[in-house]
Amino acid sequence: MSLSALKRKKIRKTDPKELIKMEDHRIHPKEHYHFSGHDTTVLAKEYGTPLYVMSEDFIRERMKTVNETFIKPYPKNKAAYASKAFISMHMCRIVESEGFHLDVVSGGELYTAIQANFPMERVIFHGNNKSFDEIAMAVSAGVGRIVVDYEEEIGFIEEKAKELDKIPGIQLRVVPEVEGKTHRHIMTGQKDSKFGLPMNHDTMLRIVGGIHRSEYMDFKGFHFHIGSNLYENDIYRRAIGRVMNLIKLMKDHFSIDTEELNTGGGFGIFYDDENQRKPINYYTDAIMDEIEGLCQLHGLKVPSVIIEPGRWIVGEAGITIYEIGAIKEIPGVRKYISINGGIADNIRPALYNAKYDAVVANKYDQEKNSLVSVAGKCCETGDILIHDLKVPEVERGDLLAVKSTGAYNESMSSNYNRLPRPAVVFLKGNTSKLMAKRETYESILQRERLAELS
Ligand code: LLP
Repeated sequence: MSLSALKRKKIRKTDPKELIKMEDHRIHPKEHYHFSGHDTTVLAKEYGTPLYVMSEDFIRERMKTVNETFIKPYPKNKAAYASKAFISMHMCRIVESEGFHLDVVSGGELYTAIQANFPMERVIFHGNNKSFDEIAMAVSAGVGRIVVDYEEEIGFIEEKAKELDKIPGIQLRVVPEVEGKTHRHIMTGQKDSKFGLPMNHDTMLRIVGGIHRSEYMDFKGFHFHIGSNLYENDIYRRAIGRVMNLIKLMKDHFSIDTEELNTGGGFGIFYDDENQRKPINYYTDAIMDEIEGLCQLHGLKVPSVIIEPGRWIVGEAGITIYEIGAIKEIPGVRKYISINGGIADNIRPALYNAKYDAVVANKYDQEKNSLVSVAGKCCETGDILIHDLKVPEVERGDLLAVKSTGAYNESMSSNYNRLPRPAVVFLKGNTSKLMAKRETYESILQRERLAELS
């Protein structure tokens, strides 16, 4: 059962302050595109292109908004940044200083957090196929939570915890069997999913009972993640309805109050349509409303609620600046403008048919009277970043700034066609800092070895 219809009217109003725009035209109001107070053409000149630009101010502002709207009114709640969206040691430091927790999903992400001295008790360790080595690494590092995704993993965790005399907190990832409206590659809540444990009551009682009996694991609660880039809050209510039945089952069967309910991430952002942008409390108010309502209905204690936003924190905080090269017009068909990057630094259009908006940074004041498609430079027909973008008349050497590239661009980048990965620059106030060097042809070759050919 869902309380959504009954309760919807109780949701708090959206704070318009939250709908911050990153374009800032204070310095050169017309000619150049400004991002987070910086002239993007100056950044391109200083650091070269393609260039990932991240606004630390925007990232911090988003985290503060989460703290203000989700933690302050509910002090037991926790917000974890999903590091898969964008991770670096510097990013871990920002996450730490804003009081967030950190969701990691591999030994590599965990290692980055360890190297950044991130407090391990604030780490939530995920993964649908954690290796024994990764589990050992997580247990010995003392991560706060391990999210169990498959049953066999419980034995691995217990074995390692016993050996190291640790008691990791455990959340169980369950499949809520709901389908969020998003690209099918990033849906995870449906029954046919590689993630999570089925919500079968007998299975759940067996697993939770087993964890309870163990001296080396501390059962904390349940986790679900419906999918990514979701624009509707109703789907969270539906999933919560299902998972709250499990919490009730634990109460009825074991007389335990489940301490934590982790509702995952997935909050959508602006890509090419301003109307898509939603404030975080559009989602979190609905989540809290549904949980509180159902707890009241069933006489349950309200758990500590955890969210794991990735994209919502960093997506709009990033842009990518490219230089335009070849321009090709196929009469009566279309005009292609080619950039010096593509599928290797942003695979999302090819993988998810993702849409982006972009501007010609050095001609920001000029009338957009030309319709073009933005082609990447990789040897792949599908390497088209944007179909049908309105731009001014462009020529070789112009700069293209693609918006909302802060999430899942750098973190999913590759060396396809041996393109060196772009540099990453962070903006804070009026300063810019190089936080990851541009790869070079030499650095790409570094991991190779030559053998004698016989
Ligand atoms: N929590 C869990 C357990 C997740 O699996 C994910 C994302 C998140 C949180 C964060 O989701 P977000 O708030 O960022 O939507 N590469 C894809 C997205 C894959 C997301 C995988 N899991 C993309 O570029 O759209």
